Amino acid sequence: MDLKDYIRTVPDFPEPGILFRDITTLLHQPQALRYTIDSLAEQTGSLGADYVVGIESRGFMFGTPLALKLGCGFVPVRKPGKLPAAVFKEEYTLEYGKNALEIHQDAFVVPGRVLVVDDLLATGGTAAAAAQLVERAGGTVVGFGFIIELTFLNGRAKLPEGPSAVALVSY
Ligand code: PRP
Ligand code: ADE
Repeated sequence: MDLKDYIRTVPDFPEPGILFRDITTLLHQPQALRYTIDSLAEQTGSLGADYVVGIESRGFMFGTPLALKLGCGFVPVRKPGKLPAAVFKEEYTLEYGKNALEIHQDAFVVPGRVLVVDDLLATGGTAAAAAQLVERAGGTVVGFGFIIELTFLNGRAKLPEGPSAVALVSY
């Protein structure tokens, strides 16, 4: 199955010049959604993760079913002001704009091996910030899993050295 057949490209969203890779058209096709989760599980299962960390919001959509399939716990990394207990916070820059992410300070009840999941790797700022948060909360990042990688933005260069990074399709 070619997942690109299920990913819609929307020009000039959220601002002029951006080609937005839209995964809602993949999510609503059950066979494509299953193939996506199965493929991610095949390519990350050997990492032996204890937790999947999903990045708000599209990372939640893929991270939670992947955690279920891998037998891992799920930990959310959220946009500021959403998590109710004490948090660590990291700021980062995006392909379009700036933001921050937070994780619960006690997210890893038992410290363990962490797979960070998001729908898309662009400049890498989001995933790198999530990895920093995981380490601050006492977890060990063993890998990254993405559906899409925008290779021309060279996001891999921002990720920590060591953990593997898997992307199912590239543009
Ligand atoms: C998008 C995407 C990744 C991030 C990648 O999320 O889902 O999380 O950008 O960009 P980067 O590699 O340049 O950091 P966005 O911040 O648009 O939030 P959303 O998932 O809530 O739509
Ligand atoms: N996040 C950052 N860049 C993006 C893009 N081009 N398409 C979808 N999500 C993105």
